[in-house]
Amino acid sequence: MNHDELHAFYDFTGRTALITGGTGGLGAEIARALMGCHANVVILNRDQEKARKVIEGFPGNAKGRALHVTGDVLDAESLRQAREIMIAEFGAVDILINAAGGNHPSATTSKELSFFDLPLDAMQHVGDLNLLGTILPCQIFGRAMAERREGVILNVSSMNAFRPLTRIPAYSASKAAVSNFTQWLAVHMAQNYSPRIRVNALAPGFFITDLNRFLLMDADTGEPSARGKAVLDHTPMKRFGTPEDLLGATLWLISPAAAFVTGAVIPIDGGFSAFSGV
Ligand SMILES: NC(=O)c1ccc[n+]([C@@H]2O[C@H](COP(=O)([O-])OP(=O)(O)OC[C@H]3O[C@@H](n4cnc5c(N)ncnc54)[C@H](OP(=O)(O)O)[C@@H]3O)[C@@H](O)[C@H]2O)c1
Repeated sequence: MNHDELHAFYDFTGRTALITGGTGGLGAEIARALMGCHANVVILNRDQEKARKVIEGFPGNAKGRALHVTGDVLDAESLRQAREIMIAEFGAVDILINAAGGNHPSATTSKELSFFDLPLDAMQHVGDLNLLGTILPCQIFGRAMAERREGVILNVSSMNAFRPLTRIPAYSASKAAVSNFTQWLAVHMAQNYSPRIRVNALAPGFFITDLNRFLLMDADTGEPSARGKAVLDHTPMKRFGTPEDLLGATLWLISPAAAFVTGAVIPIDGGFSAFSGV
């Protein structure tokens, strides 16, 4: 393979990527990087103002175009409407990145809230957001990939999927389900539609964003909380991740450089999952 081909792998000119949760701490960085690699970028989330700010921060020299579509990953009708707007503008989704997801304090055990008292609606919300919030966009945006027999899906799982973390049972279980679904859909697409449809997932370790700040940082001191310190002690690289740390694996997995990779869940965790603690 010559080096021109290697460079071309990461030039997404003429390709359209839709990123659910493209305004989040991680999704926004992925969206910016894809703009920088000349893709058309569609951000799907619920809050238009947040999306406007992210799009304002996109690189000025990008060849692609940016679009925001309002949608809720748990509301199939809103996703269908988003798909119509997106199709009118760009024709098709080549790359779907499912970065909407998260935990919630009310689904987190604490001194005040035992496992036995976790409210049903909170656990249901977290479970649905991560699992159904990944499955529904795959159904709605993946159908056209199946018809065209080509496409790339990248889900966002978590360290929790390999081994559950304390205090967040619904989040842990739902991310394990996202990893499992990633493998399921990879096989299903390849066997029933085309080996040119690939489905993979990132499994980020610990990145400080709105999702987990309340667990990992002490709001009063701005220093890592006891839990944050425990994470750092268990991370051989001794730091939290930054959103840019996800970009290499993301670009690789969605590019033709990963043409023979499907059903993979890639840890990006500073070695957290490799460390036994001893
Ligand atoms: N941060 C970490 O350390 C970490 C580690 C492992 C895995 N992850 C996973 O990585 C993904 C991104 O996390 P993050 O840290 O970037 O989270 P974040 O900063 O809290 O962002 C969450 C994003 O999801 C969107 N969202 C939430 N509910 C939605 C819904 N019902 N419909 C549409 N969009 C929705 C939010 O936008 P709106 O609120 O505007 O709709 C926002 O864009 C999540 O799946 C998370 O579980 C994160």
